[in-house]
Amino acid sequence: MALSTGHSKIRAAVFISGTGSNLKSLIKFSKTSKSPISIDFIISNNSKAKGLNYAKKYKIKKKILSFKNKNLNEKKLLTILKINNIELICLAGFMKILSKKFIKNFKGKILNIHPSLLPKYKGLNTHKRALINKEKYSGCTVHFVSSKLDSGKIILQKRVKILKNDTDVSLAKRILIEEHKLYPKAILKIFNP
Ligand code: GRF
Repeated sequence: MALSTGHSKIRAAVFISGTGSNLKSLIKFSKTSKSPISIDFIISNNSKAKGLNYAKKYKIKKKILSFKNKNLNEKKLLTILKINNIELICLAGFMKILSKKFIKNFKGKILNIHPSLLPKYKGLNTHKRALINKEKYSGCTVHFVSSKLDSGKIILQKRVKILKNDTDVSLAKRILIEEHKLYPKAILKIFNP
């Protein structure tokens, strides 16, 4: 990946919409000496996102953008990211779809975590669909973001066994635990291959 590593860490922004448990795990990881990235910005489309509390807790800059006017908001966003020298974007439970134009501007520098074994179950309600289809396994995937939803190059996946009495809630919970480990691992894989 054409990113400057040098001696300082790669400046990353995390985009969230909700709880931000993946954001939390990425912040914790970023503070370890082995982490190639630092988290320097948090972006949310939702002013009520619980994860925004981590901005205060860890003294990380944040910006809320409604994305109601996508074109305008993405323009604003690009300016903010540029001013703050952001080199990498980590989507973590971000519920808005970024435009092709935006993705082009950050080509190969946007990552996402998805709660399924892609290419299976792109989009929403992944756990429910995996259960309805009586899958033996589900899991999570970290991948590069391309202009096609949940379809960019896969970096790492983790399989999670589906148990007999699983509900979408219990399965989501077990997969989330793996997500928290997988995202940092995928970042290490990209930058320290
Ligand atoms: C995660 O399951 C992630 O894979 C999906 O949305 C959820 C976000 O959870 N895209 P959190 O906000 O990181 O706790």
